[in-house]
Amino acid sequence: MSAALPLLQDPHPRTNAMYQEYNFASVLAASARAAWQIEDVLPEGAALDFNRPFLPESLARTGAAEGLSAEEERILNQIRGHEYLVIFGLVEEFILPFVLDHARPHLSGDDARVRALLGFASEEAKHIDLFKRFHACFTRDFGTQCEVIGPPEAVAAEVLRHDPLAVALVILHIEWMTQSHYVGSVRDDGDIDPLFKSLLKHHWIEEAQHAKLDTLMVEALAEARDEASIARALDEYLEIGMFLDAGLKTQTGLNLDAFEKATGRKLGEDERAALTEQQHQALRWTYLGSGMTHPKFVATLAAISPAARDRIAEVAPAFC
Ligand SMILES: [Fe+2]
Ligand SMILES: [Fe+2]
Repeated sequence: MSAALPLLQDPHPRTNAMYQEYNFASVLAASARAAWQIEDVLPEGAALDFNRPFLPESLARTGAAEGLSAEEERILNQIRGHEYLVIFGLVEEFILPFVLDHARPHLSGDDARVRALLGFASEEAKHIDLFKRFHACFTRDFGTQCEVIGPPEAVAAEVLRHDPLAVALVILHIEWMTQSHYVGSVRDDGDIDPLFKSLLKHHWIEEAQHAKLDTLMVEALAEARDEASIARALDEYLEIGMFLDAGLKTQTGLNLDAFEKATGRKLGEDERAALTEQQHQALRWTYLGSGMTHPKFVATLAAISPAARDRIAEVAPAFC
């Protein structure tokens, strides 16, 4: 009688049969139909309307902040809009090289895969350009210098040093969260600036295809990994989340500095502490909670590991 062999493989290996929702060819076709040009979103000579808010209240939460006049709520909302442009520019700077690195090892064989991934990277480069152009419009007309965290290269280096599965999960989270941002702008009754609304809409149109490609990337990177390896990748996903959250806290302080300069109002110590806490949570929801709780992100987590899904469900309320 032979002794039992040690278990070298996961008894429940993940196979492609588990995930058949998306494929490269259909994403490629959908991307071609949905493509837009920068000028469609931000025409030559366009200007932001500083009489209106820029972000939906669901993200800005400036209407919910205590002790602000209607004008101050609007100014803080616009500063949040500025931050949105910068933070997206920043995260897309690490998405672009990651997608190229994922495409690079397999350039022959599956033509749809190569074209879809290169299209994904090219669209992210276009988004970086678009966010920069919006940023230039903002700084030209706002009248107050707003400081931002960074530089983007340092943030990208810190994120990209992690396990590729962890980075792919962060990117998947970001792609899906842009949907809830767009939906928030549609549901908002705060009369937000039409250019900003159009930015959220057009960004989501292309991110919708990226989210499918990123789902395929996550599945490929998770395939053949055992539960322990996926748990380690999830640790790193959370580590990246905490790194980004620390940046969001710093950004909250910079936003309030800009608010004081733009309004000429010096916040009292207690007032500033309360507003910092309230706004930091608003930034957390914008960039962390809205991705972590997106049903499609949760579904992908569940497909690679129900334990991973449960773990994120436990920590997500802190970012909502
Ligand atoms: Fe993007
Ligand atoms: Fe994207």
